[in-house]
Amino acid sequence: MSADHSTPFIAIEGIDGVGKSTQVRLLAERLEAEGRSTLTVREPGGTELGEQVRRILLESSTPLEVEAELLLFMASRVQLYEERIGPALRDGRVVISDRFHLSSIVYQGIARGLGEQRAGQIVWGVLGDRRPSINVVLTLPLADCVARLGGEGDRFESQPEVLEGVWHGFQESEGLPGDRIVRIDGAGPPEEVAARVYEGLSDALR
Ligand code: TYD
Repeated sequence: MSADHSTPFIAIEGIDGVGKSTQVRLLAERLEAEGRSTLTVREPGGTELGEQVRRILLESSTPLEVEAELLLFMASRVQLYEERIGPALRDGRVVISDRFHLSSIVYQGIARGLGEQRAGQIVWGVLGDRRPSINVVLTLPLADCVARLGGEGDRFESQPEVLEGVWHGFQESEGLPGDRIVRIDGAGPPEEVAARVYEGLSDALR
């Protein structure tokens, strides 16, 4: 259950379509170019269990209560931390995760109706300190995110009212006690956004 936070553990967060995955890649490339060793992971996924859970969550139409949905995300997350993130941090590798627990608080807690407090209790109870040392939330106007998604979407992306809840959640949530959240403007060319992300991480990367 213990966390290993002497090495930076960075989560890149934000609504679907905001450009997280590109920023994860650009950040990893920059850090590697500086001579740092990195591990990039994505949520849900990143382990054999996680990829199976991902298929249930994103590609099937299996009926799921929101609480069950959260617990599946948590199962994937614990496996990912124990199997890959924790060992990498102990090896001194900077870990960059495409989403982590803040997504659960925003999607399941705020947007899908479980309640921010209830989701927070579950997430806290399961993860404890096994959380990112910093959470970068990329922001964009809601209309731009919708336009980038182009009407296609998985279970979570296809309902407009859910998307709106997600947008507000990422603007406002403070996550769990002790979470460090920095919001970065995601507008403009990817390289410009990447420079802002890097700047926003300057303390955490020291
Ligand atoms: P996403 O990173 O968007 O995957 P992809 O880039 O392949 O589309 O994540 C998939 C969806 O899962 C996304 O709509 C957000 C949702 N999600 C949750 O609802 N809760 C969570 O805890 C996580 C990690 C993701």
